[in-house]
Amino acid sequence: MTEAVDNVQKVGFLDVAIDPTLDLFAEIEKLKKEKNAIVLAHYYQESDIQDVADYIGDSLGLARKAQDTQADMIVFAGVHFMAETAKILNPDKKVVLPDLHAGCSLSDSCPPALFKRFKEQYPDHLVISYINCSAGIKALSDIICTSSNAQKIVESLPLDQKIIFAPDKNLGGFINKQTGRNMLLWNGACMVHEIFSLEKITKLKVRHPEAKFIAHPECEEAVLAIADFIGSTTQLLQYAETNPAKEFIVGTETGILHQMMKNAPDKTFIPAPPNNSCACNDCPHMKLNTLEKLYLCMKYELPELLMDEELRIAAKKPIDRMLQLSDELGIK
Ligand code: 13P
Ligand code: SF4
Repeated sequence: MTEAVDNVQKVGFLDVAIDPTLDLFAEIEKLKKEKNAIVLAHYYQESDIQDVADYIGDSLGLARKAQDTQADMIVFAGVHFMAETAKILNPDKKVVLPDLHAGCSLSDSCPPALFKRFKEQYPDHLVISYINCSAGIKALSDIICTSSNAQKIVESLPLDQKIIFAPDKNLGGFINKQTGRNMLLWNGACMVHEIFSLEKITKLKVRHPEAKFIAHPECEEAVLAIADFIGSTTQLLQYAETNPAKEFIVGTETGILHQMMKNAPDKTFIPAPPNNSCACNDCPHMKLNTLEKLYLCMKYELPELLMDEELRIAAKKPIDRMLQLSDELGIK
């Protein structure tokens, strides 16, 4: 056990055998009370984790919840940049995550040293970064945004304001199209949203003519062009629940189908297929987290997210700006 604990920051998770007869749902509930812990989960987590979470949300909702919580320990079932955001907002709280290696291809596509050099070429540009980036990128940014508030934040800026948008070229391109701006885009993308097959989605639409195709703005432009609705995970959920259609083709990570089916059990949700031999489109990073790892990280309070204080302070400024702007702009 001691060796497993000693190694945890290296291997990313606690590799300890769990008694298979243990009721992990009940144990997690017990640990929440014992430790005054809150479990925050993203919609892309496996269903069991969503079911045990105190709050499930999109990146904006999760950041707000992390800002407001009175818990002593935040257990973040999501990917590294999300847990990092919770820590940036809560330096005095313990933030643990089931697997330290749950990263993000989009965040990885924008290394801070390269981005710093890029930014230096455009000193008169404001930097807006999508929250799916490292603390290093946040520290180089003026405002953070999420897929829920990106368009409104951009629209709130003067028309002649020059802007660099990082790291997602697809979300940035979508906002450029919606707002008529010409933001400079960093060439990053999400490996999950980039591999949807336009051809397979088109065929599905033909087979299900009444179905609405709903997509996340991290998808490529050609896929977004055939969508009936584009939005963040929370916005996609709300649309699927309130729209009178009975069938939906869902262009985002498949984890979200769990809440869609729970919220609208009389409707049919078809995952949009990727351009490989799989029928579904799972994020390999999000899916590194399991209920077992969640239980272990709560029990042993490891792995813990630790941050350099200077970096944390620099990364907090643009997040605070986002949260303040979102409130001012009335973004739910
Ligand atoms: P949202 O849940 O904020 O829409 O983000 C989606 C995503 O890709 C998270 O990694
Ligand atoms: Fe990153 Fe894409 Fe996975 Fe979200 S779905 S965590 S953007 S790789």
